[in-house]
Order: sequence, then structure tokens, then C-alpha cells
Amino acid sequence: MKKTAIAPANIAFIKYWAKADSKERIPKNDSISMCLSEMVSVCTVEFDPQRKSDDITFSGEDVVTEKELKRIVSCLDRVRTATRVNEYAKVVTKNNFPKATGIASSASGFAALTLASVAAAGADMSEKELSILSRMSSGTACRSIPSGFVRWHKGEDSRSSYAEQIYPPDHWEICDVVVIVSSKMKKISSTKGHELAPTSPFYQARMDGMERKLHAIEEAIQKKDFSSFGRIIEDEALNMHAICLTSTPPIIYWESATLGIIKSVARLREDGLEGYVTIDAGPSVHLMCRQRDSEKFVQHFEQFEGVQKVVVNKPGRGAYLSDTHLF
Ligand code: PMV
Repeated sequence: MKKTAIAPANIAFIKYWAKADSKERIPKNDSISMCLSEMVSVCTVEFDPQRKSDDITFSGEDVVTEKELKRIVSCLDRVRTATRVNEYAKVVTKNNFPKATGIASSASGFAALTLASVAAAGADMSEKELSILSRMSSGTACRSIPSGFVRWHKGEDSRSSYAEQIYPPDHWEICDVVVIVSSKMKKISSTKGHELAPTSPFYQARMDGMERKLHAIEEAIQKKDFSSFGRIIEDEALNMHAICLTSTPPIIYWESATLGIIKSVARLREDGLEGYVTIDAGPSVHLMCRQRDSEKFVQHFEQFEGVQKVVVNKPGRGAYLSDTHLF
């Protein structure tokens, strides 16, 4: 059976930064995110008894590393074990946002691969089971399975560490204006970042404030209190990057354009245009605003030096199956 799945990237408002169990990808704290409507991965999988090995193609990508291929085969192996299918697969996968933009595609990519391969194996899994299975391939992929606003429960073991929806996409008309900043630096992997986080002298302080922050953001999302929501997400992004800057060795993910954007957003706020930033493990900035203001931000950022591209996202749908196959 040939099956195709589409899954979104997601942006974390409260971040996952440090693992309790690195092999199982169990995080130290819960995280809260939103699926993105316009940045997705598509993946088609077909198991075939005639095949002698897995055949994996990244459509539209020129360089694919050995490490990336191995990670995909491990994901297929997990699905084979879970579904008791013993055949090799043909896999074609594609992102609508090229890797060169520096936006992580592992969440959307592994969520799509997990759903497509489970379906191609003829198995039927619950959203919770799919979230757990995708988490083992890429932690943040578990948050790309449910739709809309999502909470990843850290859990105590593999069976209890999964993501679930807290509100559907139409709960709140907010936008993530993704401002893509390019970098010439070789990216320090987030795997390394998770490992180094506890070396920061501020790590324990971050953890001590976590429960309060998780509670406050859920309340702000529930009440659609944009100003409180914005203050929390900016505080959280700066907190996570403070951990990166003070890890041993330190990690500096920002470029000068990143800092320029952060400051310009604060200035725009003083002038009455309300938006707040959050930043993952890279130089690009996610600007959260009300949907009615998104065009004004797009115009502002398109003029900005060092900005490669601007993409406006609404709260999006989680992973789903599609009839349009890639081969
Ligand atoms: O999935 P990873 O290991 O690439 O973790 C990345 C974590 C952040 O994107 C920096 C934060 C988050 O929760 O998404």
C-alpha cells in the first residue's frame, strides 16, 4: 500500500530545551506549541516485499547526509517493529521550506514519515500512539501530530510522553510571521544544545520557573489575552537563549539581523503595532501578532537587511493523510 501524509512545522511558545532521557527523547519539561499552516512536509511511503533495502529520496534537496538517512531508516525500523511489517520501503519526502532557510524540518518531516509509514503498513494508531512513535525519531515531531495549540506532556516514561491538543486551530486568530534570517555559520545541532543546557548556571532557575510559566501561557491562550501571551513568549525565548549563551561551551544562535529584528519589534510596539518574538535554535525570528496586523509586519520585515524570506502562518492542522502521492 502506498500512503502519503502531510505534517506541519510547529513553533514552541514554551520550549523544550534539555532531555531527561536522550535515547527515548523524553524532555525535562512540558512544552506548548502551535502548528503552522503554511510550512509543511509531505511524505509518501510504500512497503514492498521485493525490495532488498530502503530507498529514500529527498525531493528538491541537493545534499542529504548519511546521518539523516540513518535517522529515517531508524524511524522506519520503529514502525516495522510496531506494526510487524518486515518489508523494506520506498520513501519520498519533500518540504515546502528548503533546509537552506535554517528552519528545522525534523518536526514536520518525522511526523509526516511516521503517519505515512504506519498507514502504509496497514496499521491504525490513535493520535496518542502516533505522537509517541514520532517523538522517538524527533522530539518536536510529537507536537506536529495534533492540530492547533498543543501541549507535550513530558511524562515519566516513553508511554506517557506525548503531545495533545489544548485548543483547535480556529480557537484564536493569531499569526506566526516567520522571518527567515540566513546564516553562514555551521549550525550547532539542537541535540548538542539539549545536552549542554544543564551546564548553564541559570539552568536550575529556568526549571524552577517552568510550572508557573506553563500555567500562565495556558491561561493567556485560553483567555485570548494577546498582551500577556506575548510577554510570556518573549520572556521564554530570551530565557532559552540565555541558557544557550551561558552553556559550556556557549552557543550563539543569533545573527546581527536577529537582534535587529527583536529591537525593531519592541519599537513597533511603542508605536502601537503589537507583536512579540520567539526564536528557536537558529537565527530566524517568529513574530507572533494578531491576524489583522500580519501584512504590516510583512511589509516591515521585507525591507529589513539580512532577511531572506517572510512567511505568514495561521494556527494549522496536525498530520493528516492525503491522496496526492509523490511517486
Ligand atoms: O527537536 P529538536 O531536538 O531539534 O529540539 C529543538 C527545540 C527547540 O526548537 C529549540 C524548542 C522547541 O521546543 O521547539
